[in-house]
Amino acid sequence: MEKLRVCVMFGGASSEHEVSLKSAASVLSNIDTQRYEVYKIAISKEGGWYFYDGEAEGLSLLNDAENWTMDRAMISPDREEKAILRLTESGIQRYPIDVVFPVLHGKNGEDGTVQGLLELAGIPYVGSKVIGSAVCMDKCMAKTVFRYAGIPQANWVELKRGEEKIQEIEETLGYPCFVKPANAGSSVGITKAHNREELEAGIQVAFKEDYKILVEEMMYGTEVECSVMGNLNPVAAEVLGEIAPAAEFYDYDAKYNNAASILTIPADVKPEHAEKLRNFAVKAYKACECRGLSRVDFFLNKETGDMYLNEINTLPGFTSISMYAKLWGASGLPYSELVDRLLDLAMEVD
Ligand SMILES: Nc1ncnc2c1ncn2[C@@H]1O[C@H](COP(=O)(O)OP(=O)(O)O)[C@@H](O)[C@H]1O
Ligand SMILES: [Mg+2]
Repeated sequence: MEKLRVCVMFGGASSEHEVSLKSAASVLSNIDTQRYEVYKIAISKEGGWYFYDGEAEGLSLLNDAENWTMDRAMISPDREEKAILRLTESGIQRYPIDVVFPVLHGKNGEDGTVQGLLELAGIPYVGSKVIGSAVCMDKCMAKTVFRYAGIPQANWVELKRGEEKIQEIEETLGYPCFVKPANAGSSVGITKAHNREELEAGIQVAFKEDYKILVEEMMYGTEVECSVMGNLNPVAAEVLGEIAPAAEFYDYDAKYNNAASILTIPADVKPEHAEKLRNFAVKAYKACECRGLSRVDFFLNKETGDMYLNEINTLPGFTSISMYAKLWGASGLPYSELVDRLLDLAMEVD
């Protein structure tokens, strides 16, 4: 059998560059090389594209800017060139590919941009298409879709640069509240405001990341996450996960550096609450036109059963010990089979 030629992309001009390198190291160490011919494109923080022919273990070294000495590589939007074009000293080398796995998080990877290039190129890829990626990347757009889909969520107020809404925020949301850039990821630019002074400071911080931000009412409850997979008929993993952040909220440091943040799998939630969460997760996934995979994150009040959708991550952290994969693992689907399934889904036509 001919091997399927897979291009794994990682790094990226994103605040989640390092996280992507970790996710990709897991994919590369677990992908079935009997089945797939694997090619790798490494994207620098500056957005340079390179042909990576090293091992998975070498990816952590790429954190160092001076290690970016590989040949340049690109994927052309030209449909007659479904290949990686490697620019070597002696000319262009072509590596035809059948499918791309963009293991990229956040801006310039999870937001519809890379997906747009791959649409032009006519190359199938893992995950959501342009629309689902772009909608879920923009928290205001995603929340507008959740509202029309009838999915419960925190109240929120949108601000574009130059708008003044302190009074409206205080009246409708109160304190504490959360201030977020519309396009964020990994908690970058997110703060919790306990009073007007912190709110004003938080708004400044969020506007450093984006021209559009949102302020949300504080949700009390546990953070519960659900892994969803599929195209037009998605399914939620049986097992849910729960997070107890080590910090006051799940900020960047609590996510990636603080071992005291605890993931509980399976989540300690009542079966009837779990069932409702899984249904909302699938409903939200469909409403946002997600494809392939997404992790859908909620706040749950365990006593009352009140549940609120927080966000959908269309390319969630994807190491073998990340929540997304662990929930599938606990539901009976091991990591390397998860990768197979996602590649199969990528090759499906809607
Ligand atoms: N409305 C809210 N109420 C309580 N905690 C929140 C709220 N919004 C965000 N948080 C906390 O901040 C973290 C990051 O916010 P989130 O919207 O998930 O941003 P990101 O896209 O960066 O993951 C959440 O995991 C949670 O701990
Ligand atoms: Mg989040």
